[in-house]
Amino acid sequence: MASYVADLLSDTLTRPTDGMREAMARADVGDDVFGEDPTVRALEERVAGMLGHEAALFTPTGSMANQLGLRLHVPPGQELVSDRLAHVVRAELGAAAVFSGITSRTWSAPRGLLDPAEAMSLVTTGVGPYQVETALLVVENTHNFGGGTVQPLPAIREVRAATREVGVAMHLDGARLWNAHVASGVSLENYGREFDTVSVCLSKGLGAPVGSVLVGSAERMAEARIWRKRYGGGMRQVGVLAAAGTYALDHHVERLAEDHARAKRFAEACAEVAPAVVDTTTVETNIVVLDVGAVGLSSAAFVEGLAAHRVRAYAVGPAAVRLVWHLDVDDAGTDAAVTAAREVLTAR
Ligand SMILES: Cc1ncc(COP(=O)(O)O)c(C=O)c1O
Repeated sequence: MASYVADLLSDTLTRPTDGMREAMARADVGDDVFGEDPTVRALEERVAGMLGHEAALFTPTGSMANQLGLRLHVPPGQELVSDRLAHVVRAELGAAAVFSGITSRTWSAPRGLLDPAEAMSLVTTGVGPYQVETALLVVENTHNFGGGTVQPLPAIREVRAATREVGVAMHLDGARLWNAHVASGVSLENYGREFDTVSVCLSKGLGAPVGSVLVGSAERMAEARIWRKRYGGGMRQVGVLAAAGTYALDHHVERLAEDHARAKRFAEACAEVAPAVVDTTTVETNIVVLDVGAVGLSSAAFVEGLAAHRVRAYAVGPAAVRLVWHLDVDDAGTDAAVTAAREVLTAR
């Protein structure tokens, strides 16, 4: 494995800390398929409470949590609507169609930012046998491919009021809802209760090795539990992983502010030498997207240039590069990334 001074490819790269490993080793466990793992049950109860919901379900991945959520709301042949950069339509490999017979339509959203009128313009209900019926609207917060964008609560509330009127459900892909909460100060519960189901990931900025949680009503979670087993996601003594998630909730939520500050510092340092590559006001959380095309570079050339300095980033388009801060990138790593990026941006 290559060794990087700053590995900014993704916040999924984190390795469990010593404290987390100790918590995992000490975890009280049981067979979770029989509902007998006390550590999993405690985690589910805690996360449901944090998000203002009745019940929760621990899943191996964020994709599974999302896909269980989607199928609860959308009968086969009906549709979900989301923005065109949403993870559920762009990066879950057609799972909604393959597993649940769901079709999808998408609206355009610069930086993934929720525009209530744009979102609602797609919602189609009461159209008889002539058009596809919309059953679900999906929001992602923060928005990954949008660049870590935080969705404003008033916009979410406006869409919630409108969907409620026409009987359309709402699912929140909150893989990085923790980042939105820390950046905006909006409570997790205030975000959570605007949605029928919410998925959150423990394995991204929070630093757990595995694990996501889906929350919703007790009835919906009972149904999701059946489908999780059907998908092969029923796990046995999985309290060892839930313990990592619990540790992350205890120790790694508030510190996300450090990741946000480092990402901002990096973006500001890039903008100093190449103002066109990033609008620093758009850097709200732990993700920075640079438009290196603005200085005549391809994303491949920029990523390669950084790699020569042992800094890793991700080309997300021909001219767009994404860099993500997390638990395993400190101030020294951020300094190294700044030096490397400034050199590559100005070496022409
Ligand atoms: C916004 C968002 N949702 C869902 C997921 C899926 O998570 P997993 O990789 O655990 O399936 C990701 C993963 O990066 C993500 O960024």
